[in-house]
Amino acid sequence: MDTKAANALSPAFLTTERLTLRALEPADASARYLAWLNDPDVLRFRGPKAFPSNYESLKAFIASIPGRGDLVLAIIRRDTGEHIGNVALNTILWVHRSAELSIMIGEKSCWGKGYGREIIRAVTKHAFGSMGLNRLWAESPNPGFNAAVKALGWKHEGTKRQALLVDGAFVDIACWGLLAAEFNPAL
Ligand SMILES: CC(C)(COP(=O)(O)OP(=O)(O)OC[C@H]1O[C@@H](n2cnc3c(N)ncnc32)[C@H](O)[C@@H]1OP(=O)(O)O)[C@@H](O)C(=O)NCCC(=O)NCCS
Repeated sequence: MDTKAANALSPAFLTTERLTLRALEPADASARYLAWLNDPDVLRFRGPKAFPSNYESLKAFIASIPGRGDLVLAIIRRDTGEHIGNVALNTILWVHRSAELSIMIGEKSCWGKGYGREIIRAVTKHAFGSMGLNRLWAESPNPGFNAAVKALGWKHEGTKRQALLVDGAFVDIACWGLLAAEFNPAL
């Protein structure tokens, strides 16, 4: 892992106990990041993918972020400096003060260690505190993601039945939402 390169990039924007979140930059378009985007395990709950990701599409995605107005942050382990994934607020509607939260921890060795919950808690706090948003929402069939937001007090708002084909079987997508007034930073 090239920790020097990771450390040389943007400074931390949000800091948690074990992680920093900072701007995702063109220099983050690494071989490891590209591997996540082609890894069936990482993509499992995102549905079948028809075409591979390549450096061009990855660089184009990163370059498109400022124009889309999304908040996209690289997730960095504080102990190793390793870039392990990204978290984003998409579909930011300033008039309605709402946004969609999405997360991808690409380094599979980092799954199941509580990072997801730690990241979502920090981004939620930022969204309601610094950004002045009133509502966050998310949709996922991933049991880990769904457990993480549930533990953080997000409300289950509905189910998109058999909405995704995962490993040959149709699975439901759970729809979650959290209002600023409901946010409990102690969870
Ligand atoms: C989904 C994801 C963010 C979860 O992050 P994580 O760091 O592995 O999750 P955590 O360790 O914080 O676990 C959160 C909770 O889910 C539970 N959990 C984790 N994996 C699980 C699984 N496969 N099935 C059921 N529960 C699971 C944990 O026990 C924990 O519950 P707890 O707090 O009650 O103990 C991560 O696995 C990921 O990015 N996956 C690939 C991309 C993706 O699918 N993103 C979601 C789509 S928005």
